[in-house]
Amino acid sequence: MSDSHLFSGDRFAIGLAPMAGFTDRAMRRLSLQHGACFAMTEVVNAAGLTHDSKRTFHLLETGENERPVAAHMYGIEPAVMAEAARRAEALGRFDFIDINSGCPVRKIVAKGAGAALMGDVPRLAAIVRAIHEAVSLPVTVKTRIGLTPDTCTIRELAAAVEDAGAAALFIHGRFACNKHSGPVDWELIGTIKQERSMPIWGNGSARTGAEAVALQKTYGVDGVLIGRGAIGNPWIFREARAAWDGRAIAPRSLAELRDTVEAHLRDLAQLKSMERRYRRAGALAAETAAVMVLRPHLLKYVAGLPGWRAVRRQLNDMRTVDEVLDAVDSVIAGEPEGAAHE
Ligand SMILES: Cc1cc2nc3c(=O)[nH]c(=O)nc-3n(C[C@H](O)[C@H](O)[C@H](O)COP(=O)(O)O)c2cc1C
Repeated sequence: MSDSHLFSGDRFAIGLAPMAGFTDRAMRRLSLQHGACFAMTEVVNAAGLTHDSKRTFHLLETGENERPVAAHMYGIEPAVMAEAARRAEALGRFDFIDINSGCPVRKIVAKGAGAALMGDVPRLAAIVRAIHEAVSLPVTVKTRIGLTPDTCTIRELAAAVEDAGAAALFIHGRFACNKHSGPVDWELIGTIKQERSMPIWGNGSARTGAEAVALQKTYGVDGVLIGRGAIGNPWIFREARAAWDGRAIAPRSLAELRDTVEAHLRDLAQLKSMERRYRRAGALAAETAAVMVLRPHLLKYVAGLPGWRAVRRQLNDMRTVDEVLDAVDSVIAGEPEGAAHE
């Protein structure tokens, strides 16, 4: 698959942003099934891959028909990042390698990785170059507009990674110091797009499919990544595809909602049972572990339905797939026959 096929803005280009703790195989599969143009894994430690950490490789677990998908990784040493990318490529399941240059989490920044790379553009460029030389998959970078308003390095960063061979740049339009809130500078993202010849994607604040497509068109970017808007809402990609095509679509039905929660949960349970390969005996039962991961998604799945507060109250007591599905069924039963929601 050529670089332009995945990243150029002349076709539908709304993808799933990487989110640690969320964009596991189950969420990625549902997002792709509902129309995301690609998805990204949770962030993985490049050094974990080079040390053959089973836990790290588990984060790169993908499902059947789960394409296109990126292996999203953080690290600081170009040689280690290149070797990690080689190992990810050897799995034969990925369509591109994405470098994390925006994560503000202290543990990662303290190592000089994630958002800290915005303050060391030559190193980031060296990482891109090393990966580009090591693998045949396209290499992309996901970053922010800067560490702080006083240290806005995005222009310099975009030029350097383009020169180093990046196939695309994904820009979350916030400063790292603002974490996940505060204004998103789409104007600046649009300016970077004008200045560069590699594909530039924007990210931040799209909460509906139509909004994502409108941001893409307004700011002229090649594509848009959706993060939080896709939690408990894979239909956001279906809406985006319809908005892109200028089509109206029926809102999702309650039956679809129920089937989607079940598919999500069963996929998580299977993933959790695979964790036995490296977790100690006595770790939480796979089903209960899956229910715990589903919790934040579940709240979003049922948000807006009349009985959602009952689900929130029961949330911490749920342990099994059946308990979750019973709760969803009772919320659905309280809805008018055939009701559907956006
Ligand atoms: C819980 C959570 C985890 C995230 N983890 C990552 C990550 O590992 N790597 C990354 O580049 N961005 C990460 N992000 C940032 C998102 O990819 C995205 O840039 C941000 O949420 C803004 O987009 P949104 O408004 O569509 O959510 C994370 C965001 C959230 C909320």
